[in-house]
Amino acid sequence: MKALLDKIADLKILVLGDIILDHYIWGDASRISPEAPVPVVEVDRDSYVAGGAANVALNLVALGAKTELCGVTGNDDAGIMLRGLLLEHSVAYDDALGNSEIPTILKTRVIVRRQQLCRLDRERDPDSYSAILKDHTLDILEKIEKFDALILSDYAKGVVTNELITEVQERAATCQALVTYDPKPKRRLTHHGLDLITPNRAESLEMAGVEMEPHQPYPAEEVCARIWERYAPRYLVITLGGEGMLISEKGEVSKIIPTYAREVFDVSGAGDTVIAALTASLAAGATLEEAAHFANTAAGVVVAKLGTATATPEEILLYGAANE
Ligand SMILES: Nc1ncnc2c1ncn2[C@@H]1O[C@H](COP(=O)(O)OP(=O)(O)OP(=O)(O)O)[C@@H](O)[C@H]1O
Ligand SMILES: [Mg+2]
Repeated sequence: MKALLDKIADLKILVLGDIILDHYIWGDASRISPEAPVPVVEVDRDSYVAGGAANVALNLVALGAKTELCGVTGNDDAGIMLRGLLLEHSVAYDDALGNSEIPTILKTRVIVRRQQLCRLDRERDPDSYSAILKDHTLDILEKIEKFDALILSDYAKGVVTNELITEVQERAATCQALVTYDPKPKRRLTHHGLDLITPNRAESLEMAGVEMEPHQPYPAEEVCARIWERYAPRYLVITLGGEGMLISEKGEVSKIIPTYAREVFDVSGAGDTVIAALTASLAAGATLEEAAHFANTAAGVVVAKLGTATATPEEILLYGAANE
């Protein structure tokens, strides 16, 4: 794994997708409001984390790759906070996409005694974000030849569209850059022949158009065959939460790689770690199976952490060695 990490340190990877700011309000609640039957939260502190495509970018930097991020942020406080986080973590970000009048996508979670009380979402409809990205597509396509791989990180907020996938794929083919995609099937995008797609279990069923009866085993063969028929990805990796990940080529199930037992604190963002680690290792020349082992190890590091959702080479080597 050390040799793989050394090669990843020489890579340049571009992330294109929906940038989100995750805002947490931490507090305590011991009484009910006299104004309405709701708890009164005494706020202790606020914290901010880069989410969505920005979290994929942070994961790549943590692995050692040089990383640029393209996606929409607004000319508002959340945008300033996000661009500050990107700068702090050495993620390059083209400010041309950060000055729009559109609000930065902001998700505020109110957490009381480790319990989420509610979530407040601030965002516009997907077409508004698509429109802004569209104005900058030519500049983005120009950049592609500088990169070894390109990750499309779709959170169904509008940045990733059919046109964008096609244009990116065409341009990447001229310079042998990998194009990988973490999909949100509810967008119903019609891609074909991408290098890698990484749906989770529920997303894989939706992409395959397979209904699963409750308490039935996951229909792996059927799902892989259907996704191959519809989308023909070179590699398909389906993440199965605590059961690890399934790898598939040409519609056949190749293998299921289990997770290594460990204490889990926070599984949110593990999918971002997986697409980052798979893309980086494939671009570094790993086989699909090597890449999946590497990504499983990186995700294992991340789910054992609270708060930060990235894994460094040192942590991966340590955790990997413990499970050999
Ligand atoms: N309980 C767990 N124990 C160990 N590893 C886990 C656990 N849950 C997730 N993982 C690791 O994280 C990977 C991705 O998890 P999952 O299938 O939940 O992705 P996801 O639903 O896309 O996540 P996200 O919420 O980030 O979108 C798994 O393949 C596995 O390697
Ligand atoms: Mg996911």
